[in-house]
Amino acid sequence: MKATIAVLPGDGIGPEVTAEGVRVLRAVGTKFGHGFELREALIGGCAIDRTGSALPAETSALCRAADAILLGAVGGPKWDDPNAAVRPEQGLFAIRRELGLYANLRPVTTHPKLMAASTLRPEVLAGVDMLVVRELTGGLYFGEKKRTADRASDLCEYTVEEIRRVVRRAAGFARLRRKKLTSVDKANALETSRLWRHTTREIVHKEFPDLTLEHVLVDACAMYLMRKPSSFDVIVTENMFGDILTDEASVLAGSMGLLPSASLGDGKRGLYEPIHGSAPDIAGRGIANPYATILSVAMLLRHSLGLAREAAAVEKAVDAAIARGILPADVAPAGTPSASTVAAGQAVLDAL
Ligand code: IPM
Ligand code: MG
Repeated sequence: MKATIAVLPGDGIGPEVTAEGVRVLRAVGTKFGHGFELREALIGGCAIDRTGSALPAETSALCRAADAILLGAVGGPKWDDPNAAVRPEQGLFAIRRELGLYANLRPVTTHPKLMAASTLRPEVLAGVDMLVVRELTGGLYFGEKKRTADRASDLCEYTVEEIRRVVRRAAGFARLRRKKLTSVDKANALETSRLWRHTTREIVHKEFPDLTLEHVLVDACAMYLMRKPSSFDVIVTENMFGDILTDEASVLAGSMGLLPSASLGDGKRGLYEPIHGSAPDIAGRGIANPYATILSVAMLLRHSLGLAREAAAVEKAVDAAIARGILPADVAPAGTPSASTVAAGQAVLDAL
């Protein structure tokens, strides 16, 4: 097949991990006979430096014309001035919102070779296999913001339709998995959460009666993620809760450097990025973990291009590289040599 893929490396370790993702994409193209056309563009801090905008019109247009988008990370200390008029993160929010990518899929699994990388005990980690579906274009992130000299506010707002569409998406995935859906909210304190809970119950009872639905308060969910993480199948939650819970859930996998994500809307086009961010402290040193980005490439192949076989091959190759003990610094056992970004990417290519 032919496909156009926009590549947005961004800031910090973004370019390093994206380069490995691109190598894997090209290898998949060659091995399976697909014509992938990759086109690079600016986003985030590097885009601000060159154009004054975190999402230049050119990048926006390229993404709209593409079948899928692979993104590294945005942000860094250079652009951290809280009083700055433009911030790198605005580029990320704008692309998510402009393309209507409201469902952010963040799968979390464990690997036998990585149990020791987690701070949790192996018996707690056994059997962890969950998919967190984070609402991505609403809530506190996008509500009206106000600031005066001695007051600030961020509006948290959700419409029924915004809740319905992401719950439908999550329920659809639960149906293909272990048929359990956990909706996470703070209904004992927030009105948006009460609407979330009511709407979720309605949709699931009407359209997905075959699923088991549970409602869990976000504070309790944070605790259960550490106590009995294998009890979760699909979690669906609003934007901010999903952001926080997935950083927490990365402890189960062993590191943020292992978690991929897919941001989807109603169509096939999606945006794929590791959840870890730009990690300025290790940027430019060639030690960042590329596995989260490479696993994001697998999600891209599956969800935007419909290439399930190729996606599985990439996931299997990452699995094999980890099983061989090719572990970047964030997950290598203390006192053992760790793999560079390029070496880890190469191990995946070798396995492929
Ligand atoms: C994420 C990140 C972003 C978010 C940041 C970089 C704005 O933490 O994708 O999880 O909060 O959405
Ligand atoms: Mg985050």
